[in-house]
Amino acid sequence: MSRSSTRLSYWLMFAALTGCGGASPTPSDPNAALLGGDTTIFDFGDEAFNYPLKNLSIDYRGPFQIGDGVFNRNWVTAPATPQGNDALGPTYNAVSCSGCHFNNGRGAPPQKDGDPFLGLLLRLSIPGADPHGAPLGDPNYGDQLNQNAILGVPAEGTPSVSYAEMPGTYADGESYSLRSPTYTISNPASGRWSRPAA
Ligand code: HEC
Repeated sequence: MSRSSTRLSYWLMFAALTGCGGASPTPSDPNAALLGGDTTIFDFGDEAFNYPLKNLSIDYRGPFQIGDGVFNRNWVTAPATPQGNDALGPTYNAVSCSGCHFNNGRGAPPQKDGDPFLGLLLRLSIPGADPHGAPLGDPNYGDQLNQNAILGVPAEGTPSVSYAEMPGTYADGESYSLRSPTYTISNPASGRWSRPAA
């Protein structure tokens, strides 16, 4: 289904809902509380984050599309055609921003133990702070683990996660369970991890 017909069907659904329910906010209702104020768009599907802000002026719609294109661009190893896409690596996390932010949505953690890191990255730091108060990156690995690399270059390491269920009980007696992740990095390619002084 094309995007415009998808959007049309949402409008129809919306019209049907407001037709029988009455109270749902509509874009034209001046009294409606809009989640994003004037920036609010109406789309309940998985494309909802792909739009520019509702109130973005026409002058910025073109630049928005260009930026969105860069966000979705799959980078490849240089040299390659078409030029302009060949700037991958030498180490990297994903070949595009949208590789992790699918449909401009949030990055997502691995679902279960051992699943690959497709939408998650690990930041690295050692004790201390830089002159601006930011964390200090690891001297060998920098401030982000790059688990992928172009041909002929070792990736920095392989991240993995295992989850432990942490059951608990709310005050009203209802039980819950939260997952506590343990992250492990194997095959470190650039020597020792820096360890805090004992
Ligand atoms: C390896 C996966 C990965 C890649 C590649 C990636 N991101 Fe992210 N990004 C994340 C994760 C995880 C978060 C934190 C969770 C979230 O907000 O999505 C995040 C957060 C963000 C945020 C903050 C979102 C918020 O609501 O606070 C922005 C903005 C962002 N990324 C932009 C980018 C851009 C631009 C690129 C490409 C240059 C990019 N990301 C590439 C995983 C990634």
